[in-house]
Amino acid sequence: MPENWSSSRLDLHLDLAGEGGHRARLEAALREAIRAGRLTAGTPLPSTRGLAQELGLSRGTVSAAYDQLAEQGYVTTRPGAATRVADVSHARRPEPPQDIPPNGHVRHDLRPGRPDVSAFPARGWLAATRRVLDRARPEAFGPGDPQGRIELRTALTDYLGRTRGVLTTPDRIVITSGYYQTVQLLCRVLLAEGRDVAALEDPGHDFYRDTVRRAGFTTYGLPVDAHGADTGTLTARTYAVFLTPSHHYPTGVPLHPSRRQAVCAWARATGGLIVEDDYDGEFRYDRRPVGALQSLAPDQVVYCGTTSKTLGPALRLAWTVLPPDLVTPMVRAKEADDLYTETLGQMVLADFIATHAYDRHIRAARLRYRRRRELLIDRLSAFPAVTAHGVPAGLHTLVTLPPEGPAEAALLTTCADRGLALRGLTELHHDPTDRPGGLLIGFAAPSERAYPAALDALCAVFAGSSTRPGTRCPGLQRL
Ligand SMILES: Cc1ncc(COP(=O)(O)O)c(C=O)c1O
Repeated sequence: MPENWSSSRLDLHLDLAGEGGHRARLEAALREAIRAGRLTAGTPLPSTRGLAQELGLSRGTVSAAYDQLAEQGYVTTRPGAATRVADVSHARRPEPPQDIPPNGHVRHDLRPGRPDVSAFPARGWLAATRRVLDRARPEAFGPGDPQGRIELRTALTDYLGRTRGVLTTPDRIVITSGYYQTVQLLCRVLLAEGRDVAALEDPGHDFYRDTVRRAGFTTYGLPVDAHGADTGTLTARTYAVFLTPSHHYPTGVPLHPSRRQAVCAWARATGGLIVEDDYDGEFRYDRRPVGALQSLAPDQVVYCGTTSKTLGPALRLAWTVLPPDLVTPMVRAKEADDLYTETLGQMVLADFIATHAYDRHIRAARLRYRRRRELLIDRLSAFPAVTAHGVPAGLHTLVTLPPEGPAEAALLTTCADRGLALRGLTELHHDPTDRPGGLLIGFAAPSERAYPAALDALCAVFAGSSTRPGTRCPGLQRL
């Protein structure tokens, strides 16, 4: 197919290389041009006949690509008029989570989902690096494997089976540079199969929701209650459902066993796929962590893990355990994206896991985080108007606010003024209208020394607002 698209009305470079049929490639190229702003709102697209001629495609192929883009909201059509580019400024690259105070100065870091990076096991990492470099054969410094180093995939097979109950073999694992990349690659692979409806938890992480939408999925929300996401609302047209079953982000509730069964039954019946984001499954404080959902349906679940919460987001090391038929497409997508994840880090992590230094680090972190969460809950009990949610797990706690106030926006402003970084709940809802406000408080991010002062700062914000004492029981209605 020619790569340059010129017509009497506009001259545009369209990259039609890549995977999939002609329709999918044309659709992807146009979508990319619209998202990148190279085709601006209101621009008329050429007629299907004209473009088909220029590109050497059938008119039906161009027309099908236009229809898909219209359904996804990238173009608008009117009978008898040219197809035009829609206003998609909302679909541009998502901003990173807005949890930094506007002045950018973080005095107290209570951002959710961040580990205490001051406790990064630098000495152990250095020792593992030495061992790896001492033993490395020359090939280790050559080109890497798009699927990931075999040492790491082997170490993960043992580790994930032992600690999370994941059923896998090394050949079903693909190493990526973070869950963010996993989601991007997976969306590309799944959309190439022609199904484009995805369900995500509501509330849920806005960054990944935007990523899935931006990839081209039509999305809808699964309401969340005290049993986790309501899987009963999944439709048969849905191809992928993105879940955080061990510890729902942000409410902190685990997916109820009956819903675990139900979502697996849905996937088997409809050919749907479950994407399990096990982002902080290692951290449960009152009991052994609940095993991964993946073990209930290994052929229907894509299991995703990351080092971002256990070691630190700096490493960009994550893993995906796939149903067999998705392995090759994911490896191809990874290779097309960035060839492979940096190799030496993978080898060091493999050594770190195999020598159980990873287990020891997580066990020590678990003890610290458990104490911190207990301290947080204890301090919050002085403000019974705020309600803490979720099981003792993870790196954050959600508190919701009473309808009579204080309002989330006012609290966030006060926090920002005082250099206290955390997140609001509102933007995590698919549609924030008439939903309770709340705050996501990360108790893991500060160093041990900094944590007490961060808690004092948080309590001072609550004390200065109208969170009067009273009695209130934690619970979780539909949020
Ligand atoms: C819900 C959730 N999933 C996954 C991740 C991990 O993402 P990554 O591996 O790209 O750092 C995060 C990190 O913030 C998260 O909050």
